[in-house]
Amino acid sequence: MRAVLCERYGPFDDLVLAEVPSPELRPGTVRLQVLAAGVNYVDNLIVGGRYQVKTPTPFVPGFEFVGRIIELADDVARDAPHLSVGARVLALSGGGGFAEEVVVPAHIVTIVPDGITDGQAATFVQSYMTAAFALRHRAGAERDDSLLVIGAGSGVGLAAVDVAASMRMRVIAAASTEEKRRLALDRGAEVAFDVNSESITTDIRELMAADGKDGVDHVYDPVGGDRAETWLRCLATGGQYLVVGFVAGIPSLPLNHVLLRNRRVTGVDWGGWSARQPAENAALLNELVHQISIGRLRPVEPTAYPLDRTVDALRDLAERRASGKLVVIP
Ligand SMILES: NC(=O)c1ccc[n+]([C@@H]2O[C@H](COP(=O)([O-])OP(=O)(O)OC[C@H]3O[C@@H](n4cnc5c(N)ncnc54)[C@H](OP(=O)(O)O)[C@@H]3O)[C@@H](O)[C@H]2O)c1
Repeated sequence: MRAVLCERYGPFDDLVLAEVPSPELRPGTVRLQVLAAGVNYVDNLIVGGRYQVKTPTPFVPGFEFVGRIIELADDVARDAPHLSVGARVLALSGGGGFAEEVVVPAHIVTIVPDGITDGQAATFVQSYMTAAFALRHRAGAERDDSLLVIGAGSGVGLAAVDVAASMRMRVIAAASTEEKRRLALDRGAEVAFDVNSESITTDIRELMAADGKDGVDHVYDPVGGDRAETWLRCLATGGQYLVVGFVAGIPSLPLNHVLLRNRRVTGVDWGGWSARQPAENAALLNELVHQISIGRLRPVEPTAYPLDRTVDALRDLAERRASGKLVVIP
């Protein structure tokens, strides 16, 4: 089969498209024909050897995917009657998705209902689970709370816009391009600001002041970097800064601005939580799958790249050109 191979940790340009044997089917596993594999910022960290969990090289990256079951181990065929050849399933695993076939433990796959496209199924799990976990479990966010989302036109930011809008929160989006802002507005943001605009903090404060508020209730920040202090200062009295990611670098936050107005800074580690609370995580995933299948949540249809352009997809994401989500189609 054809697969994208990470032979040693390094820049994603070093990934190679190779002809490799299909992985071995072991007890407890199923073989999938990969239909689509999501491209995430974390892939970049994984192939660079900069992710907290290190996969031994050589390996096939791509940890989020949808596929059709083409073979089941004997024990799975016997013990898991809900799984059969031909079933369309999604999985989030340690890797293997940027390939024509992947073998995964049967217990990690979820049947994909008809109302969800291959592109959505391959790209929503990480971003929507992070957003739902952050807003419900960590923030305790409620209807009518205001939420400022940074990086609101792609990945976990855009998912947060959709999840928050479905909770009837007031969503203020910040993104760098017209296309990203349009996506955020389309998913329910009430207003979308150019993240690079010099007047963005004044604009946000004026917007909230019109409602008698001294800032926003929550900031959802998957970007970090130098601007983090700016977003912290946008928080209202009692407001909460959700630390989600650091694509622009790990920021330092001035604690005097946390103390002032009784603000809070809250860490969001969906991966850690999901490993420690598998039953709650599975319940949340099932709920999101249902909400997407009935159109209550609407992950964007991703931009598709063929397998031999996986590196281009990773580059477009890293260089901030990706609006919405990206997917590799083997
Ligand atoms: N905490 C958790 O549990 C959790 C779970 C999943 C992912 N994450 C983290 O969330 C972060 C975002 O992941 P993602 O998949 O959503 O990424 P993504 O799709 O690439 O989106 C990141 C956005 O960040 C903005 N950005 C600002 N400065 C940037 C820079 N220097 N380089 C690249 N992008 C920049 C861009 O939006 P604009 O162009 O609009 O500014 C870009 O669209 C990552 O750090 C990831 O590790 C955290």
